[in-house]
Amino acid sequence: MSQSGSLGTEEEVEERPVQLALVSRLVGYLRHYKARVAASLCLILISATASQVGPRLTQIGVDEHILIGDLDGLYGLIGLYFLSIIVQYVAQYGQTRVTELTGQYVMRDLRRQIFMHLQRLPLQYFDRTPVGRTMTRTTNDVEALNEFFTEGVVSVFMDLFTLVAIIAFMADMDWHLTLASCTMIPILALATFYLQNRAMGAYRELRRRLARLNAYLQENITGMEVVQLFGRQRQNLAEFDDEHLPYRRAEDREIHYYAIFFPFTEFMGTVGMAVVVWYGASSVLEQRIDLGVLVAFLQYVRRFFRPIMDISDRYALLQSAMAASERIFELLDHPTEARGGQINEAAEDEMAIEFDHVFFKYDPDGADWILEDVSFRVESGHSLALVGATGSGKTTIVNLLCRFYEIQQGTVRVDGVDVRDWDLHALRRRIGIVQQDVFLFTGNVADNIRLGEKQIETAQVEQVARYVNADGFVGRLPNGFNQQVAEGGASLSSGQRQLLSFARALAFDPHILVLDEATSNIDTETEQLIQDAMSRLMRERTSVVIAHRLSTIRNADQILVLHHGRVREEGRHDDLIRQDGIYARLYRLHYGANQNAAAELGTTTPQAPPPPPAGS
Ligand SMILES: Nc1ncnc2c1ncn2[C@@H]1O[C@H](COP(=O)(O)OP(=O)(O)OP(=O)(O)O)[C@@H](O)[C@H]1O
Ligand SMILES: [Mg+2]
Repeated sequence: MSQSGSLGTEEEVEERPVQLALVSRLVGYLRHYKARVAASLCLILISATASQVGPRLTQIGVDEHILIGDLDGLYGLIGLYFLSIIVQYVAQYGQTRVTELTGQYVMRDLRRQIFMHLQRLPLQYFDRTPVGRTMTRTTNDVEALNEFFTEGVVSVFMDLFTLVAIIAFMADMDWHLTLASCTMIPILALATFYLQNRAMGAYRELRRRLARLNAYLQENITGMEVVQLFGRQRQNLAEFDDEHLPYRRAEDREIHYYAIFFPFTEFMGTVGMAVVVWYGASSVLEQRIDLGVLVAFLQYVRRFFRPIMDISDRYALLQSAMAASERIFELLDHPTEARGGQINEAAEDEMAIEFDHVFFKYDPDGADWILEDVSFRVESGHSLALVGATGSGKTTIVNLLCRFYEIQQGTVRVDGVDVRDWDLHALRRRIGIVQQDVFLFTGNVADNIRLGEKQIETAQVEQVARYVNADGFVGRLPNGFNQQVAEGGASLSSGQRQLLSFARALAFDPHILVLDEATSNIDTETEQLIQDAMSRLMRERTSVVIAHRLSTIRNADQILVLHHGRVREEGRHDDLIRQDGIYARLYRLHYGANQNAAAELGTTTPQAPPPPPAGS
């Protein structure tokens, strides 16, 4: 079971038992590369065989040349020996190249598939899944599979072929001695699996502990100011020691098992040689075999061990590939966003936006409605201001308008068409959104306005920027529209980011404009530019504004007051003041008492920043 929380990525399951279904799905990724896989297998076969020819040649050399004093024939054998080594290296080189390249191709396919899938997942997935976890899927997990394909599978074949080649060469020389030599295999295999399993367990624990230790360090280094301010150094050191102890113990255990393991295999190797010497020597004396056979066996018996140890090592790799592939396939099997309906064009309708008894909650199993029986209409060309306390459901309404989430009851219509009948792409093209938190991509200013849409020309970008008053600050940047913005827009102020996002929304010339007004404090000059831009934008097209500024609200044709997901009041500013309800109270609270400050209406807890909208 994967765990939630910020440590989720570190504490995910690392290993899984081998499952045939997963393996066959994985192998499916090789189907485009059959020729490469076949070539790789052939090369493995060649190199495994070539690598084991040596001892056999020794046997021939001893028995058929040295013992009978035919030194001339020996040169031919030596030549063959070198040839076998060259064949082995060439085959190994080719095999490594072919396999690594195939692995790279498969990884590319897999990453592309994951990324493509991610882009089509409903936002709900991203609400529930920490970013770190999704990142792990596309990076670490894919990398684990890469190892599985390029090292795991190949090495297992290599090891198996090598074992088979050794046994075949031995059996070809003498059956009895082969059986005697093989008595070591079960003992060695069992011991290897047991000890490596133990060591792996300790290693896993070690990594978990290390992750915790790192998290602890990171938190305390990040919060160094608080640590020093409150004199927490001594307590922290004690806590650090507490965290470090289990790490050291785990490391100790791992070292313990490896310290047993390596001498043990050495020992088993020696015992194997002893068996061969004891049994083989008596066979030589009884003239059942030649001396050269014994010499060859002594070499082969040591060569058994590597493949057996390796196979058990690969098994661990296979298990982690199982865990990784299980997670990747779980992501790939997550249903994508509904494609939407067929409709690309708006119906002839006066009503640009219509919510008809809408009920909605983010968690379909949750108890409380986030929006409850919400109904309102916005006529074409008119503007609506949404007002309400933090968490009252304003951003949610916007999310539903773009069909980022499915409503449970009621209907949402855009330009007279149910959003479920709209082609999703066409629907979202009609609506331009200025989000509460503006997200800027790495790139220059102009690219951030046109978002990679090539047909939006630079002149047009500059024009919309001028229209929303963004040209002033862009002009002051050293490189103007070509200025690179730092990742996430950190190099720009929040007001500047907002102006850019106005330009971005406008560049796509949307029918409906949605502004989720940010509450962050902005300098007076920029504030003025933003207000100016907003009132201009609202005047000219259908717009929905989630408003905090009084000026924006006053400009709206219609105000909707939300309270705990319900529409409580509706009307124009003066009517609502006269009604003396929630709106009037909010107005008095935030504006009446604070005449001079930038009026922020609808934020009952201004010090707590509102949650980012789901769309960002
Ligand atoms: N993606 C989400 N998944 C689950 N719950 C959410 C999600 N987004 C918002 N909510 C919940 O829905 C409710 C309404 O949130 P919403 O973002 O619509 O509030 P808001 O009116 O825009 O508030 P603010 O003024 O702070 O932006 C809140 O209780 C919030 O916790
Ligand atoms: Mg909001």
